[in-house]
Parts: sequence; structure tokens; C-alpha cells
Amino acid sequence: MSGIVVVGAQWGDEGKGKVTDMLAERADAIVRFQGGNNAGHTIVRDGETWKLHLMPSGILHPGKLCVIGNGVVVDPKVLTDELDELRHRGVETKSLRISANAHLIMPYHMMLDHAGEAKLGKLEIGTTRRGIGPCYADKAARLGIRVQDLLDEKILKKKIVAALDPKRSSLRPYARDPRLDLQAMSEEYLTYGHVLEPYIADTSRLVLQRLDRGDMVVFEGAQGAMLDIDHGTYPFVTSSNPVAGAACIGAGVGPKDIDEVWGVAKAYVTRVGAGPFPTELDGPLAEEMRERGGEYGTTTGRPRRVGWMDLVALRYAARLNSLTSLAITKLDVLAGFDPIRACVRYRGAEGAEFDYFPYHQTVLHHAAGEYVELAGFSEDISACRSESDLPAPARDYLEFVADFVGVPIALVGVGPSRDQVIWTGDGGDTAIRLAA
Ligand code: IMP
Repeated sequence: MSGIVVVGAQWGDEGKGKVTDMLAERADAIVRFQGGNNAGHTIVRDGETWKLHLMPSGILHPGKLCVIGNGVVVDPKVLTDELDELRHRGVETKSLRISANAHLIMPYHMMLDHAGEAKLGKLEIGTTRRGIGPCYADKAARLGIRVQDLLDEKILKKKIVAALDPKRSSLRPYARDPRLDLQAMSEEYLTYGHVLEPYIADTSRLVLQRLDRGDMVVFEGAQGAMLDIDHGTYPFVTSSNPVAGAACIGAGVGPKDIDEVWGVAKAYVTRVGAGPFPTELDGPLAEEMRERGGEYGTTTGRPRRVGWMDLVALRYAARLNSLTSLAITKLDVLAGFDPIRACVRYRGAEGAEFDYFPYHQTVLHHAAGEYVELAGFSEDISACRSESDLPAPARDYLEFVADFVGVPIALVGVGPSRDQVIWTGDGGDTAIRLAA
């Protein structure tokens, strides 16, 4: 049995898609367990770029079981569009399975997301406005519509009426919007149901069968630990748990089914949306990092906020997730920055020092990073394929990160393409097997 969870160890956009894609090549099944189309995975292979939002990364590997687990919130329009595009580009999608228990994003969820952000004004969270928060809120309020409801017209209509009732006043600005018409909405969703029906299944059973027969199953997280609704920078977080523990809930497996947890982190940090970011840069240095790293959102196109590596937050993410391996992506982007800085401590507004991630949000909002300066490198490292090819300062930086966080680095990304990686031969059984 081999269950491997891949999670983001920062604020999302760490390059999980590429890492999952590489693991997926050797895996038998790939399972998404939380989030929705707020995520965006970019995978570059054979010169072709794929931007996936809902589809598990494994879909590009024919014949592998690809699962959208019960913990995911599904916008059926986005899903059917992605299916169409994949088929159009010659990708086989027959091995996709969608949990009957996954919740559906409804038109009113997107409206509420927009309205909620508008109401917050300057205090907005900066959501992707894809309806993620309102959909998870309905799930918790037991007013959600699930994938299985697409297969029963009567139930679907009844549930939509029940879900809309308490939202009347918030939806008043959309009262005349044709998307809220019960008949039209039900018809649209029933049509999605017809398209998706062959893919709907009890995915928990399917995944457990694979684990029982010793298959390698990759559980693919979206977003990152610092956006976790319980452990992240609340309220500037997403509405699900992107940490490894959620793989069990969102896929329907037990904790003992997980053998390894890989945390993906950029060699620096980015964040989209509002909220505290102690190592954030501004000015020309930020511009340069953003441009070199191509730091614009896959889902929304928004410029990402950028900053130096935050090792206090990364160590916190390692603890929350029981990370067994780190994958450090985009090391190539740091070429030319000299010195390279890494945050090892926060200093609070009144001078207090924080070696650990502070539990109090006010502290975090006023915290500034304290840095260790490491020598930079100027060489283009995008053609390096082993650690020994890297310039000494790049190796030293990686060693510093791994030592500080206490987790071995299995993989280093040196460019966007899937062959632009260095396997270190370190970081747990799977990493060592894959490096061989
Ligand atoms: P929501 O998930 O759309 O509700 O957005 C909540 C917060 O999470 C916002 O700050 C978003 O920018 C952020 N967020 C959501 N999904 C992603 C992602 O895939 N990458 C990075 N940030 C994300």
C-alpha cells in the first residue's frame, strides 16, 4: 500500500501541479480531496501548456484512475468545459470518477461570493469569486446540493428551493437575474447531470480498493497550508482544509492509508488576495521577482504578491502536515538575486521575537521578517539535472532550508517543464525510488 499526499506548504501556487504530475506518472490513481476551481494547475509537457482547474493532474496520463473526491466543491459548468477541452485536444477522460457526495457550486454561490466581497469593501478577502466559500458554507449548513442530486429532478428542485430560501435578502440585488430562475437553473444542472452521469461513483470505495491491492495512490491538495481555514491566516484563507489530514476526509480513506506527505514550496513566497505576509517585498525587487517568476494567477490572472522565503511559516506547515519530503520549486528564479534572504524569525510591533508562527492574528499583521543572508548565484541553472550541477550557493541555500525546517528535500524545480527537475535521492521511500 502506498498513499502519498501532495500539499502546498505556503499560500498556494507552489507548483503542486508539476510535482503531482511527476508522481502521477508512476501512480495508479490520483485523487483531488478539497477546494474547487479556485485552484489552477499549470502543467507544461512536450511544449504544450495545460491549465487545469478542477481535473486531477493525473488526467494527462491515460488509463489512470482520476478522482474528484467528496471534499471537492464542483462547478459542473467548469468541469464539463474542462472535459470538452481535454477531449478536443485528444486526451482520454474515461478514467475520471466524481464522488456522488461532492458538493456543487450553484449560480447563487458565485453571486454571494461577489456580493460578500463587495460588502466587505476595503476589508475584502480577495477571493477568486468562484463561489467556493458560500458553497462550503451551505455544505456545513446542510443546505448543499450534491453531485448525486443531479440524477433526481424532484430532489434537485426541492433542495434548490430550500437552499435559496434563507438567502433571499442577500440575493436581492440579483432578484431579476435569469440564472436564479428555478426552472432554468434545474434544467441547466440536469443537463450537466446527463453529461457527468457516467463518471459519478462511490469514489471512496474505488480508492480503498486500489490501496488494498497495493497500488500507489496520490492525493492531490489545492491551495496551501497558510490558506487553511483552521490553521491559516484566518479570515484571509480559503474555506477548506488544504492540509494533509484533509486528504482522509476529502477522499474517504483513513489516516493509516497515508504513508508519505510531500510539501511543495517555492524557493521564495507568493500570495494572491489580501492578508498578512511578513516577508512581502515591494518596489523594484518585487517587480523583478514577479516578472522573472511569471507570478500572475492561473485562475484569475491577478499579479501575485511576492517575498523572500519564510522559514517560520514553512516550519509551521511542515508540522501541520507531518511532511516527509519537501519539493522546492522555481529555484531558477532566484538566479541573479544576491544576497538571497531567508526569514528565520518574526519581530512583532513592540520588538518581541517570534521563532514560531504566532497564534495571534494581530501579531502576524504587524510582524516583520528577520533574515539570514546567503550568498546568491548568477548562473542560469535551468539545465542542471543533478545537485552536483548546481552552483555551490544554490546547494547551500537548499541545505539551509532543509536543515531549518527539518524535512529532507526530495525534488528541486529549475524551470517550468517537467524534465527541469533535480531528484536529490533524499526524502523517503518514494522519493528515493523515483530518483533511482
Ligand atoms: P477562495 O478560495 O476563492 O474563497 O479565496 C480565498 C483566498 O484563497 C483568497 O486569498 C484567494 O486568493 C486564495 N486562493 C484560493 N485558491 C487559491 C489558489 O489556488 N492559489 C492561491 N491562492 C488561492
